Amino acid sequence: MSDEFLERYHRRPGRTSFGLQPWRDDSGRSSYEVLASRLGGAEPSRRILDLACGEGHLLALLDERGFTPLWGLDRSEDELAVARRRVGPAVELVHADARSMPLPTGGFDVVLCHMALMLIAPAEAVLDEIARILRFGGELVALTNRKIDDPAYDALLHRIRGITAEAGLPRLRLGDPRFLARSGLAQLFCHPRYDERSLTIEDFEVHARLPPARLWPPLQTMYDIVRLPQALQAELEARVLEEWSLLTDPDGMVHCSQGMRLISVRTAR
Ligand SMILES: C[S@@+](CC[C@H](N)C(=O)[O-])C[C@H]1O[C@@H](n2cnc3c(N)ncnc32)[C@H](O)[C@@H]1O
Repeated sequence: MSDEFLERYHRRPGRTSFGLQPWRDDSGRSSYEVLASRLGGAEPSRRILDLACGEGHLLALLDERGFTPLWGLDRSEDELAVARRRVGPAVELVHADARSMPLPTGGFDVVLCHMALMLIAPAEAVLDEIARILRFGGELVALTNRKIDDPAYDALLHRIRGITAEAGLPRLRLGDPRFLARSGLAQLFCHPRYDERSLTIEDFEVHARLPPARLWPPLQTMYDIVRLPQALQAELEARVLEEWSLLTDPDGMVHCSQGMRLISVRTAR
């Protein structure tokens, strides 16, 4: 069910980067830039894979910064078609499932994954595959979201839950929830092919400050909203805008923050 839903959602490419576009960390960086900055400078011949690369936002950033050789892999042909137009011809794009990748064993130095690892279940299947394609001592660096308390974001989640329940829809459960809890991550990377002592988990936040009507379109790309029928999306929008209008500052802006997490781990040597 979760795979089919993701497949349908990603037939319309580019929603993820559009949804994340207004959000910046305390240093003014997008979450893509935060992940890219973990690579340091471009070192020649470091083989980098962007796993579940979507429409290539991160790949384009890395390509511009001179990282090479670069690969991107995704299960959505539509997302990959956009990626193909965004990145240079040297970037290799692979249409495949992250749980069974047609890529060589030990063929990569770094696997990056932006906002996708937690969507892939079971976690063991994708982690085994990542460990297989990384060289010994290679690094996985993944960026995921995490729950924080934020009045504007909580108001949205509260309203989504309400409208979903009123419509009698089941909760949308995507991926493997162990990726979203620190304890789950510690458990997952207690794995013969990963060096659990190398595991680092860094939490940070990204913020947006916009008038309510401009905050809605990026957040409307959320999986839990897109799956609602159009009429319910319109109803949700009206309720959320009303609630956000009570949270605006004197300039008419609403401040909204989302929790992010940067996870890094090396394969065992
Ligand atoms: C939230 S989007 C993130 C895309 C991109 N990393 C970004 O942040 O812009 C999730 C991506 O994961 C891909 N995906 C989901 N399940 C997958 C799987 N089993 N194997 C490969 N890609 C998958 C989707 O097609 C989609 O492009």
